Amino acid sequence: MKWLIQDTEPTQVKTDLVVIFAEQNTWETNPHFQKWNTFLQNLVFETLKKEKFKAKEMESRTFTMAGKPALNLLVLGIGEKKGDDQLQILRRLAAKSVKLAQGLKATHITFVLPELANVAAHDISYSLAEGAKLATYGFYRYKKKPEESVEIETALIVTPQALAASVETGVKKAELTTEGVFLARDLINTPACDMTPIELGKVASKIKGVSVKVHSLAEIQKLKMGSFLGVALGSTQNPPVLIEMHYAPKNAKKKILLIGKGVTFDSGGLSLKPPKSMETMKDDMSAAASVIALMSLMERLSPNVEVWALVAATENMPDGHALRPGDVITSMKGKTIEVLNTDAEGRLTLADAIEFGLEKKPDLIIDMATLTGACLVALGQLYAGLLGNDQKLADELMACGNKVGEKMWPLPLAEEYKEELKSPIADLKNVGGSYGGTITAALFLQEFVGKTPWAHIDIAGPSWTEKPREYETVGGTGFMVRTLVEFLGKF
Ligand code: BES
Ligand code: ZN
Ligand code: ZN
Repeated sequence: MKWLIQDTEPTQVKTDLVVIFAEQNTWETNPHFQKWNTFLQNLVFETLKKEKFKAKEMESRTFTMAGKPALNLLVLGIGEKKGDDQLQILRRLAAKSVKLAQGLKATHITFVLPELANVAAHDISYSLAEGAKLATYGFYRYKKKPEESVEIETALIVTPQALAASVETGVKKAELTTEGVFLARDLINTPACDMTPIELGKVASKIKGVSVKVHSLAEIQKLKMGSFLGVALGSTQNPPVLIEMHYAPKNAKKKILLIGKGVTFDSGGLSLKPPKSMETMKDDMSAAASVIALMSLMERLSPNVEVWALVAATENMPDGHALRPGDVITSMKGKTIEVLNTDAEGRLTLADAIEFGLEKKPDLIIDMATLTGACLVALGQLYAGLLGNDQKLADELMACGNKVGEKMWPLPLAEEYKEELKSPIADLKNVGGSYGGTITAALFLQEFVGKTPWAHIDIAGPSWTEKPREYETVGGTGFMVRTLVEFLGKF
C-alpha cells in the first residue's frame, strides 16, 4: 500500500474507489458531498435523502457507477463524537473502506481527508492511514494467501496543499507504528512450537539500532533468578532466555524500563489449565511481542529517552522437573515465594525481571503482561487494567492509549489486600484469595518494584481478539505498541 498525498479534484482522479466522510447531519453542507452530487447529477443527495442517511457513526453507502473502469464512491458517517473517540471512528472507517475496496477488487483507493474542528491534520491522517493499513494484516505462515485476496496498491489522500506537510507527518507515523503492530501480531500468532523462548530471543537479536543481549539458561542461573527459573523448571525441551534490549540516544531526558511478560506457552504447569483455557495460551507472550516490536521501531522513532526493555522468556510446562504447588523458590531479590498455584507464573517471571531491571537505575518502570483472567472478568476484552504507584504516569499512559484507541482503565493498588499474599512459611505466596485477582497480582509485583515510579498494565483482555474490529483480525492485536510510541514521543 503506497501512500500518495495530493491537492487535486477527486471527481477527476483515476481511481477505483473514492471515500468521503461527513460528521452527523452535516453531509448536505459538506462541499465534497456537494461536488460529488453535482458530478453524479443529483444521484447522491436523492439517494441519501430517500434512505434517510444521517452520517451516523459507521453509517455507510456505496455508489457504483458503470464504466471502464467502474468507479465506486463510498460515503461514510463519522457520527457526533469528538476528540479521541472521533479519531477511533475514523480509524475504524478507514479500515472498513479498505475491506470494502478489497471486496470490490479495487486496487487504487482515494480518501478525501475530512477536516475536523480542533483536530490537527496530522492526527487525522495518522488515524486514517493507521486504520487503513492495519486492516490489510493477514497471517500466512501456515497457509497460502487466498488467490482472490486483493492488495491495495495505492492509497491517495486528497487534501489542500497547505495541510500536505502535516498530513504527510501523520502518514509516515502510521507507516511506522503499523509495521510494529504487524511484527507483534506475527510473533503472537505464531504457535508456541515455533515461537519458543530461544526463537523470541533470535527475533530480538536481529533488531537494528538497539543493543541486544540474550542471556542463556546458565547465565540466568548465575544471576540467581530463582523466581523466573522456577517457572522454567518444567520446560526442559525449550529452555528460558532473558532478553535485554537497550536504546540509548544522546541527551536522553529520562531512563525508562519496559518489561513485557514473555511466557511463550502457558499450560498452567502442574496447576494445569482446562483445555478450553489453554487454546489461546500461545498469546501469553503478547506483552513481550509488543515490547520487542516497539524496540524494532526505536532507531526510526528516535525518542529523547533511554529505554531498557526486558523479557524473561519461558514456557510454563508440567514435566517431572516442574515446580509443584507448595514449593518455595528464592527470587533474585532474595525474597522467598511459596508457589501455591503454578498457573500464577507471570508474576514470578516479572518479579525477577524487575529486580534485574532496577540495576539499570530507571526513572520509571512500565510492565505489561497478560497476567490475570480476573482482568477480563473486571474490564472485559477491550480494556487493559492499569495499576501502579504513580498517578501522573498512569494518567499519561491512559491519555496515550485513548489517543490511539488502546484503552486502559484504572484499578486500585489496594493495600488492604496485601495480607492475602502472606505465607506461613515464606516471605510471600504467589496467589491471593478468590477475588480481586488483578489487584493481588499487582500487589505482588509491587513487592519487587520498591519506590520507583511504576505502572503495571494487565493486557489479558485486549492482547487477543476473537471478535475483531475493522482494523483487527482474529488473534493477536499488538496492543500497546501504538500507545508506547505515543508515550515515548512525549519526552
Ligand atoms: N496467562 C494467564 C492469564 C490469562 C488468562 C491471560 C486468560 C489471558 C487470558 C495467567 O498466567 C494465569 O493463568 N493467571 C491465573 C492466576 C490465578 C491462578 C491466580 C488466572 O488468571 O487464572
Ligand atoms: Zn498462568
Ligand atoms: Zn500466564
